[in-house]
Amino acid sequence: MPLAIYRKYRPTTFDDVIGQDLIVHILQEAAKRGSLAHAYLFAGPRGTGKTTSARLIAKVANCKTRSTDPKFRTSGEPCNQCDECRAIDDGRSLDVIEIDAASNRGIDEIRNLKESVRLSPTTATHKVFIIDEAHMLTKEAFNALLKTLEEPPSHAIFILATTEIEKIPVTISSRTQQFYFKRVSLHSIVEKLNHIIKTESLLVSHEALDLIAASAEGSFRDAESLLDQLISFSGKNITLHDVESMVGKVGFEKLSKFVGFILESKLEETIESLSSIAEGGYNLVQFTKDVLQYLRRVAVLKFNPKMSKLFENELVADHLKQLIAHSTHFTDHHLKLIKQLINAYSQMRYSQFPIIPLEVALIENLKKQ
Ligand SMILES: Nc1ncnc2c1ncn2[C@@H]1O[C@H](COP(=O)(O)OP(=O)(O)O)[C@@H](O)[C@H]1O
Ligand SMILES: [Mg+2]
Ligand SMILES: [Zn+2]
Repeated sequence: MPLAIYRKYRPTTFDDVIGQDLIVHILQEAAKRGSLAHAYLFAGPRGTGKTTSARLIAKVANCKTRSTDPKFRTSGEPCNQCDECRAIDDGRSLDVIEIDAASNRGIDEIRNLKESVRLSPTTATHKVFIIDEAHMLTKEAFNALLKTLEEPPSHAIFILATTEIEKIPVTISSRTQQFYFKRVSLHSIVEKLNHIIKTESLLVSHEALDLIAASAEGSFRDAESLLDQLISFSGKNITLHDVESMVGKVGFEKLSKFVGFILESKLEETIESLSSIAEGGYNLVQFTKDVLQYLRRVAVLKFNPKMSKLFENELVADHLKQLIAHSTHFTDHHLKLIKQLINAYSQMRYSQFPIIPLEVALIENLKKQ
């Protein structure tokens, strides 16, 4: 069984962590100075580098090369060669303890943890506790943890990771150094996927790649897992059609063409295009969502062209250009269409015939008055 892509391509140095420049910089500087904190809180969307950075801290804190080679220490990176680095990479280190708070949420688990915190590390210099999904801990567990965070032994480092920062009590967060991981840009996802595609000698069309990246919605992990699934499904040659059927979404070109018909009030073409999409077996509810998302962006660009700056994060350049072109066709009349499509969308989700509400909304809006 080959290694899952997301594990094989997990960054092994801070320099390889993409799109979190400020966090990386601060952690590297702390590593160089030997002044890592005793408790960190990593917040942010899934698949943006929280666990990855936590393991990097564990390696930097325990790397043997760093402790014996002062020159290497100034790199602020782990060596990835010594016993400690390798044990951590392989998940074998007894001194790096990862706890999934979603399934270990109670006071007993935190008591065990407290026991373990007191004991010295076995082979490493630091014991690193990575508590994932930390917001899932119970109130009692948080209270127990709080005492430990107030007076941690000098060998302990805690890293709490969460996707829901607002659920972490202030008493806890105020005792940690906090970092907010950003949703990553589409562009950086495309770049990393391109690197993986080259290294694995895959054949993935441009459009297929764009759809994989867009479906990941700012998560490297989702993009890499999807690529994994596609490889087991289609082998080394991945087409747009493969991705479309895997994610149940149509590619950008089809979507954009469809919206173009709407914006130019071409009713016949709209109906034909919709029918061919339905016959292609695409999920029409998802398709309506994508059309709405597209129209929303077009509307926003029409009424505030400066928003293109923001969309640069979510879209590849060619697609953004296309949206901007479409925004010149957008009129108040299409605002009404957006409302009609939202209605259709809520009816479609429970309908045996999802195409009907969608078709009716389009005809109602586009027919000649
Ligand atoms: N900032 C990043 N740069 C490069 N790859 C990343 C980044 N964040 C996540 N990944 C990829 O996604 C996978 C999962 O990332 P992880 O750090 O576990 O995410 P999470 O934020 O959910 O803890 C990693 O193995 C890596 O391949
Ligand atoms: Mg994680
Ligand atoms: Zn090392």
